[in-house]
Amino acid sequence: MKAAVIRKYGKPDVLQVEEVQEPVLGSRDVKIAVSASSVNPVDFKTRSGKIFFISGLRFPKILGGDVAGRVLACGDAVQHLSPGDEVYGFSSAPTRGGAYAEVMCCKADRLAHKPVELSMSEAAAIPLAGSTAYQALYKQGELQPGMRVLITGATGGVGHFAVQLARAADCQVTGVCHSRNRSLAEELGCDEVIAYDEEDFRKRHGTYDLILDAAAKFGYGSCRPALTEKGIYVSTIPAPGIMLRHLWSRYASGRRGRFVSAHANTADLERMSRLVETGQLRPHIEHRFPLTGIADAHRLSETERVRGKIVIEIGE
Ligand SMILES: NC(=O)c1ccc[n+]([C@@H]2O[C@H](COP(=O)([O-])OP(=O)(O)OC[C@H]3O[C@@H](n4cnc5c(N)ncnc54)[C@H](OP(=O)(O)O)[C@@H]3O)[C@@H](O)[C@H]2O)c1
Repeated sequence: MKAAVIRKYGKPDVLQVEEVQEPVLGSRDVKIAVSASSVNPVDFKTRSGKIFFISGLRFPKILGGDVAGRVLACGDAVQHLSPGDEVYGFSSAPTRGGAYAEVMCCKADRLAHKPVELSMSEAAAIPLAGSTAYQALYKQGELQPGMRVLITGATGGVGHFAVQLARAADCQVTGVCHSRNRSLAEELGCDEVIAYDEEDFRKRHGTYDLILDAAAKFGYGSCRPALTEKGIYVSTIPAPGIMLRHLWSRYASGRRGRFVSAHANTADLERMSRLVETGQLRPHIEHRFPLTGIADAHRLSETERVRGKIVIEIGE
């Protein structure tokens, strides 16, 4: 099979498409003919070696977490999926990866049936970014209908799903993005858009019940004044300061700071599938690349200026 392989950490050109052996199926795994994957920032952070303490020093590696494709075979312990099923989900990008390939093995409990309303490419855009948005809002942010929710990076991978999820939960949604992305943020369903190059939302004191800093560019300390008295701030980056706040938030009763660490699971994917069915969730794909364009896809992702998602189209 063909796969994009790295043999050392480095710049995007360390990604080389090669002929390699198919992965071996474990008892809790599903072997998938990969139709599409998508690029997430964790992929270029892994490729560059920035998170080598998680991804390790064993090479070659096949990167890529997000997958949509058709099941070829199931391990003995797999119950909810069968050969021929169309699935989507994500493997742990830094530790296991494997999705930038024609065939991958992924743990079955990280997969769900692909929504029929979506193409394979659309489905591949959702898993990691969508799950991060879902878990940041519901698990860490304690999302409730009627909340005033502010989302930074509102047109990025995580943020554009978060806007739609918060809208679907009947929240009042403020999106923060660059002024050039204002119209997309409105189309996604923001009730209000604040362009960060025109206004500093952090000066709107006491306004938001929940701030999801999806872009992870603002920080708890500077966002705190914009929270209501019991408001929650959620970051997508586990920096030391927010990790301590996260632990402390269990005992705190006022404003709280937390972070999200996306956990792949069938139940959350199925919850998002239901929102796709009802037309409340849809990925925005800005760029599509073939597997041979993987280095260019990484270069683009590293600009941190992508609207929606970058998809890698691999098989049928
Ligand atoms: N903890 C987890 O489990 C987890 C999971 C997924 C992602 N993440 C992290 O979450 C972050 C976002 O991921 P993503 O997939 O949404 O990335 P992305 O698709 O590259 O989006 C990045 C967003 O950041 C905004 N941005 C860039 N520079 C900015 C600045 N200086 N000020 C304000 N906004 C800025 C961009 O919007 P504009 O173009 O409008 O500026 C864009 O919407 C990444 O750091 C990623 O590693 C964490």
